[in-house]
Amino acid sequence: MKQRTPVFVNIAIIIGLLIIFYYLFVQSYAFFKSPYFWGTVVIGSIMAYIHSAIGDLVENNKFKKLSNEEKAAYLAEKKVPYFQRLYAAAFKKQSDTQEKDILIDHGFDGIMELDNQLPKWWVGLFWFGTAFMILYISAYAFTDFASPLKEYEVEYREQEASIAKFMADQPPITIESAEFSEDNIAAGEEVFKTNCVSCHSEGGKGGIGPNLTDNFWHNQPEKTLFKNVFHVVENGVTGTAMQAWGKNGVLSGNEIQNVAAYVYSINQMKKPITPAEGGAPPYGDEAKWEKK
Ligand code: HEC
Repeated sequence: MKQRTPVFVNIAIIIGLLIIFYYLFVQSYAFFKSPYFWGTVVIGSIMAYIHSAIGDLVENNKFKKLSNEEKAAYLAEKKVPYFQRLYAAAFKKQSDTQEKDILIDHGFDGIMELDNQLPKWWVGLFWFGTAFMILYISAYAFTDFASPLKEYEVEYREQEASIAKFMADQPPITIESAEFSEDNIAAGEEVFKTNCVSCHSEGGKGGIGPNLTDNFWHNQPEKTLFKNVFHVVENGVTGTAMQAWGKNGVLSGNEIQNVAAYVYSINQMKKPITPAEGGAPPYGDEAKWEKK
């Protein structure tokens, strides 16, 4: 008579499988806090106990039918701890008579083939894998479960929504809150190329509008260069071709902050483009900007 697997091993296997399944569907370990998880653990354990109790009854019945010798052998084997028995079983060899019973009558080159029974754990894993595969493939093919395209779309939309929310929550940039940042120069250059280059020429060297790379400024309403550019772009210069980009609603506060960073960079972080190099001649007074 065969020895049975102790109930604690079955429970450990059930809990292990539950963790794998929950993780698959939840995609995080948050389920450890869920009553559903612990509910299924309790139900699984109770089922394992019931299964083991039925097994005990069957075992008792079978035991009664054994001869005294068989009973003694069975009880002796039962005393060996489960894992020790499992380990020993891995190296057990059939006796010659047992082997004769399961010998398949074809061999080759002296190698014989035995019709051994497949280990229970192997068969179990095989059927588990087959069921899992059918479930998973049909879920993958016909539902939204684990569909990468669907997941991408959902995440993409969530991110767009959170960006939109961030932008909406952001207070509009005004001359008071505007700040110079090197990170804005590249975006500012794009604004400049679209809106300003027609009058101020490439690199701000000047044309219809004045040279923005030199230190001569006709309009100096503010004390620092960055705020000054912001001010002129927002309010324009009345009576000239320089319109009020901010007041007219053409550029947002954010765009003015960017383009002001760009103008600041060509004025302070690069050499001025002189008339000899094709720049427009100085216009206005020499400026003495405060640092910040
Ligand atoms: C239609 C032509 C035109 C466009 C487009 C234009 N400007 Fe101007 N801009 C001018 C003129 C003309 C002046 C000189 C105004 C004056 O006489 O004070 C000027 C002046 C300025 C000044 C002040 C210069 C100084 O010496 O006081 C700045 C800064 C400036 N523009 C930035 C920009 C930026 C940034 C843009 C793009 C968003 C832009 N401009 C687009 C024509 C233009």
